[in-house]
Formats: sequence, C-alpha cells, structure tokens
Amino acid sequence: MRKKNIITAGILFCMALQGLSGCKKQDLPSQQAIYIGVTYYDQSDIFLNELLDCFKEEIREMETEDKKVNVTIQGAGGSQKTQNDQVKELIDGGCNVLCVNLVDRTDPSEIIDLARDYDIPLIFFNREPVAEDMQQWDNLYYVGADAKESGTMQGEIAADVIKKNPQIDRNKDGKIQYVVLEGEPGHQDTIIRTENAVEALKENGIELEKLSYGLANWNRAQAENRMSQMISQYQTKIELVLANNDEMALGAIDAYEKLNYTESTLPLFFGIDGTDVGLKAVRESKLDGTVYNDKEGQAEAMAKLAEALVTGEGIEEIPFENQRYLYLPYAKVLE
Ligand code: GAL
Ligand code: CA
Repeated sequence: MRKKNIITAGILFCMALQGLSGCKKQDLPSQQAIYIGVTYYDQSDIFLNELLDCFKEEIREMETEDKKVNVTIQGAGGSQKTQNDQVKELIDGGCNVLCVNLVDRTDPSEIIDLARDYDIPLIFFNREPVAEDMQQWDNLYYVGADAKESGTMQGEIAADVIKKNPQIDRNKDGKIQYVVLEGEPGHQDTIIRTENAVEALKENGIELEKLSYGLANWNRAQAENRMSQMISQYQTKIELVLANNDEMALGAIDAYEKLNYTESTLPLFFGIDGTDVGLKAVRESKLDGTVYNDKEGQAEAMAKLAEALVTGEGIEEIPFENQRYLYLPYAKVLE
C-alpha cells in the first residue's frame, strides 16, 4: 500500500510539472505496469480461494517502486458464458496477461480466440485443458499439479494406516469395504485421483471391495448428503472413505458426526488439498490423512510466469515441462 502511494504521488507530481518543465511520459523512470486479469470457475471453491490469496500475496511482494503490478480477480459462478464475457471485460480493461481457471476445461476456444486476437498471453491454471486445445496457439501455458501423483499418494498413505491398524477390517473378511466421494465429473482431478488411489492401495497389498460412490462436486454439503445416503444403505459396513478433496472428506465426517457414530464404528477418511480446515482436521485426528496441493508453489509459479510473459525477462529460467506446462509436486500429510 505504501509503495502504491509513493508511486501515485510520484505520477501526480510529474503530471503537475508537465506543463512547466515538459515532464513527458518517456521521462518517467522505467516504470513497467503489469496488469493481470484472473477469472476462476466458482468463487465458492475453498481450495481456489486459498490459492488466490497466496497469489495476491505473491503480487504484493513482486511490486517495487519501478514495477507496478495490478490484478483483478473475478469468479465465474460456474458459467462458461459468464467467464467468456469476463475475459473480454478484462481485456477491454487493459490487462496484459490473463490467468484463467476454466469453468469447462473442454471448452476454452472462445477464450483462446480472444487472447490471440488481442495478443495477450494466457495462463490456464488448476483445470487443465485437453492437450489438443493447448496447441491452438503458442502463447498458452498451464500451471497446476499432476493428478496421478495425488491419487497415488492418497492410496499409499491409506495403505500405511490400514496396515498399522488391522482392526479397521471390522468384519474380519480380509477386505476393506470402501466408498469414494468424487469431485466434478470430467475434471482431471476426479477420475485420475480415484483410479490411482485404488491402484496404489492394491499395489500395497490391500484387498478392496467397492461398496458405492457419490458425486459431490468438491463440495462439503453435497458430500455430507451423499455420505448420509450411503450410511443409511450400508450402516457400519463402510471401513474406508476416499474423497477426491478435503472438503468432501470433511462433509463425510459431518455426516457421521450428525448420526453420533462412535469411534469404533467410524471408517477411515482420506482427503486431498491440505486446506486450512483440512490440516486442522488432520491435527485433531478426525481426518486420517491428506495430500498437500501446493498452493503457495502454484501461486508463485503463476505470478513469475505472468511477470516474465509481460516483461519478456526471465522466461528462459522457468522450468517448463513440454515447453508450456508447470506441475508443482504434491506432498503426503499424515497425523
Ligand atoms: C482441485 C482441488 C479441489 C478443487 C478443484 C477445482 O485440484 O483439489 O478442491 O479446488 O481443484 O478445480
Ligand atoms: Ca472388511
């Protein structure tokens, strides 16, 4: 804030002098304005709100007296049409780089066309466009994480906990009866996380029996609802709950708490993300483990890439995979 005031004061002073001393625009110190336009699929998403808080923090740290960085962040309320309009507004408003978390990851064409028409570099994040769409233009980038890695880590920590606690196989049939709470259908983090968590459990010698699954769109309340239905169907038969994110794992725990289930009849719960509430639940031993989705790393990568794309400086140092992808590693979190 102070920096901004100093810069604003400098500009005003310069403007006041303009008529007198001919202080023209090119006489200003080499001031670079970076204006980042951000839109994300839904403003109620907990993980993305935490990620974007980190992003704002990165931007604040990036500003210097000579380098002014502006950011406008908009939530698209789950509508691709709204998001397309937002991108147009951000461009009309003068942004010189875009960060887009697509509503529909299979439908980026309108946004890519806009960015290309105005020649504004475009960084997608968290919701990965399909590979062919990333070929539509050469100024497209992606920042996110490898869905497969998070699924595998979730399966591995679940396997560890199960091996250390044989009483989890409550009916002693040698198998773990499990249910899955899934994120949005069609999201890379839904299908791939589930598949790889199950795969890793099996590879670690755990015999599984799938009882059911529920779609809950990353959302805690929806997960509570789905879980309540599954509990009424299977009662104490469920031994393990794998959730594609922490919010849904917490929703599942909410369902059991409302029904007053006691410790000995609770299943194990695993999430992914390591959100503030997720980590707190791990510390309180309510959640048996999670996988940290590195929001600080992703925010920093987005900010640095945005800066490099506008200024043209430092792009060679960015460790891209496949020329335009940045994947930040996940990490296991256990009690
Ligand atoms: C996932 C994250 C979910 C949700 C989703 C939105 O990576 O684990 O909690 O935020 O992205 O696209
Ligand atoms: Ca069992």
